[in-house]
Amino acid sequence: MGDTSRRDELHREYWSTIKAANIREAITLESSNAASDAEFHIYGVRIAERFLNILARMGSTPLAWSTMIDIGCGVGRFALPFACRFQHVYAVDISEEVLSEARRRCASTPNISYHLNDGETLSNFADDSVDYAFCGGVLQHIKYFDVIASYFRESLRVVRVGGLFAASFQIWQSEETGTNRVGAKITAKKLEEALADAPYRIRYMLIDPKDPVPHCMTVVEKTAGVDKSDPDRLFSTFEVENGPFRTGVFEDLPSCAAMVEKWRETPRRITFYD
Ligand SMILES: C[S@@+](CC[C@H](N)C(=O)[O-])C[C@H]1O[C@@H](n2cnc3c(N)ncnc32)[C@H](O)[C@@H]1O
Repeated sequence: MGDTSRRDELHREYWSTIKAANIREAITLESSNAASDAEFHIYGVRIAERFLNILARMGSTPLAWSTMIDIGCGVGRFALPFACRFQHVYAVDISEEVLSEARRRCASTPNISYHLNDGETLSNFADDSVDYAFCGGVLQHIKYFDVIASYFRESLRVVRVGGLFAASFQIWQSEETGTNRVGAKITAKKLEEALADAPYRIRYMLIDPKDPVPHCMTVVEKTAGVDKSDPDRLFSTFEVENGPFRTGVFEDLPSCAAMVEKWRETPRRITFYD
């Protein structure tokens, strides 16, 4: 486990930049979106559905018999719909405040457990102990790339061979060290270097061409060994699907008007392949 001061720093960095009146608003950065609990829930269910469809198609164990870790679970926007499909969801977050709000919000869901972590590892989970890991909307806020890389490596450590790690993160950042809520730049090359000794192959990459805040959604599988000659280990050359990820999930929701407006902005330049 990383030392306490590093956790405190990552935690402070995250929370010091949140000026939200409530935790939901902090998650979405949309005060109007945060106003409607129902629509916050609908948005979570729709995005979760897109992940679930891919995981159900690519996974080696049926979701209903499987366990999963949700890293940076927030108030459970995705953990809740995941819990409807998985046997058990381990909801992990750096923040006690967020976890207690998640507990309150998901109180009627018996198959979610809540785990405070050190902000960079999954040290409270054993090797090969879960079937799936997920991290959505978190990595783009982490200021140090080594912490981002740690979550990839740790996810590959805790899932069983054949298990999947699904992540989505923004891919327009430009600084090596992040500030405030803008995290470190994530590139294909940096990921390949950081995962040089990790047992994985890429199963899927998606970039939504209509999203002005470009995201990459990727699924990696834990392999039995490390085959350095496997071309499917290369994020820089893996064939990316271009299709809807966030497109189509919020445009009809009145509380997401600010997001609809945002989508008229000029798209940010993708820095993932620099
Ligand atoms: C933008 S929210 C997303 C929450 C949730 N995944 C969702 O999309 O609704 C980011 C979450 O990640 C957590 N977080 C930030 N940095 C973290 C870190 N280094 N390790 C674990 N959790 C972190 C925050 O406390 C917050 O709950």
